[in-house]
Order: sequence, then structure tokens, then C-alpha cells
Amino acid sequence: MSTSPKDISVDARPKRQQTAKNIRGMKGTTPIVCLTAYITPMAARLDKHCDLLLVGDSVGMVLYGMESTLGVDLDTMIRHGRAVCRGAKQALVVIDLPFGTYEESKEQAFRNAARALSETGAGAVKLEGGTEMAETVRFLTHRGIPVLGHVGLMPQSVHAHGGYGARGRTVDEWQPIIEDAKAIAEAGAFAVVLEGVAEPLARKITQEVPVPVIGIGASHECDGQILVTEDMLGLFAINPKFVKRFAEIGRDIEGAIEAYAGEVRSRAFPAEEHTYKMRGANS
Ligand code: KIV
Repeated sequence: MSTSPKDISVDARPKRQQTAKNIRGMKGTTPIVCLTAYITPMAARLDKHCDLLLVGDSVGMVLYGMESTLGVDLDTMIRHGRAVCRGAKQALVVIDLPFGTYEESKEQAFRNAARALSETGAGAVKLEGGTEMAETVRFLTHRGIPVLGHVGLMPQSVHAHGGYGARGRTVDEWQPIIEDAKAIAEAGAFAVVLEGVAEPLARKITQEVPVPVIGIGASHECDGQILVTEDMLGLFAINPKFVKRFAEIGRDIEGAIEAYAGEVRSRAFPAEEHTYKMRGANS
């Protein structure tokens, strides 16, 4: 039997791990708590508080300094997916399928989604798109791959839409977004991320779609919420309107680095307690 790191991380997980089916069943019960994660130590800290951890393609912007998510590739997602699965014991881990890895055909989507699950140990994939992706979502879910949809503002379509502005702020924009959410749910998605839409539209979609709607910039009307962890911790420079900063980790890091630099320059660090002595030495 293989003992690759992949096998160890999957086998080590206890049975109480959250599943896509459980998340689907949370519609209309308790609010679903979701955050992004890209690395093991962060996943381990988030895990016990979250129902779902998303290895988002936002990793490209947050960790790699990219201008958009479009440059992220599947190998990067798999690498971070493995890291997150090593840290997550109870939350459902979902891997984002990056731009260009699922849109061409349902077969391409299956091939890459299967890699994302089998090489990481994650429990589901996420893909962006509405009615045009419904057939693909059906193909994946009928073949054992749980899918989290993503409609409304879709960052991988930033060029087609001409920016990251909120959607559905006038009623004439509503219908296609409602149809997108319904099509993805009807195709078998266990839940749908709804990003960057006005509150009344979020309320209507949440009421009319039979699976949980996970909001980001989509008001409190949704069945659950997701944020990029680095945004809500104050670690990422961009601060959209919908992000509440629950900490100012970026400021704390700068303070710590300034203190470290000062102590290195003044020779206050390392002190006695950080210094190895020779074995058997008296002093
Ligand atoms: O990539 C990501 O982090 C996401 C969330 C913001 C929903 O898609």
C-alpha cells in the first residue's frame, strides 16, 4: 500500500468530517460558516469554527500578488488543497477549479475535478458560472463529484463584465442572476456561492433556490457567509465594502517586524534564553 503524503492526510481524517450532503441539509437551519484557506496552519486554526473551508483561486491574488485570479493553474490549487486538507479535520474542504480548467467541455471539467479531489483529499470542487455551466455541473454530480456553484459577481469573468462592481443593483439585472442560481441548483450543486449582489436580490434568490446560498458581499439574507480570511483579518491591502475586518493582523505584523529589526540592530535579540550553551558548561 502506498504511504504518500496524500494517503496519510486523507486516511488520518476522522469520520466526523463535514460532507457536501450535510451542508446541503443545512438550508433553512443554522447559518453556514465558511472561510478561505490556503495553508496548513491557517486551516488548522479555522477548522473547528467553520463548516466549509474553500481553497479559493483568490490564492493567486492573496499569496502570489497576481492582479486577478485568471493566472492561477490547477497544480497550484492542488498544492494548496493538499496543505489545507492536512490542517482540516472537520470542515468540508472545497477546491476552486481555476480559469481554463473546466469551461471547454464537461469531460475536461470531470478530468480536472477528479484530479483536484483525488490528489488532495478534498470533498468538493467549486466552479463559476450559471446556466451555461449547468450541464457540466450535472455531469460532475452524476459522476460522484460534489459541486459548489458560484454566481453573481464571478471574478474569473472580470474581463467580460468589465470589473468587480456589484450586480443586481437595478431590477432589470435580476432575471439572469436568478436563472443562473436556479440552473446550478437544479443541476445538482449542493450549495451556491452568491457574490456581490444587492440585498433584495440575495433575499429573493435565497428564498427561491432549494440549496444553501453562501453569500459574499450579498447581505445577511443568505443561508451562510464566506470571506477571504486574509481580508477579514486585515492582512490583505484591498478592503472591499462588504468586508468587515475582525482583526488588524497586517498592522500587528508590521509592529512585530519593527520590534525584531530594532532588537537585532541593538543586539537585544537573541538574549540568553534564546542561546545554546555547550553541554556540561557551568555558565
Ligand atoms: O476564490 C475565492 O476566494 C472565492 C471566494 C471569494 C468565494 O471564490
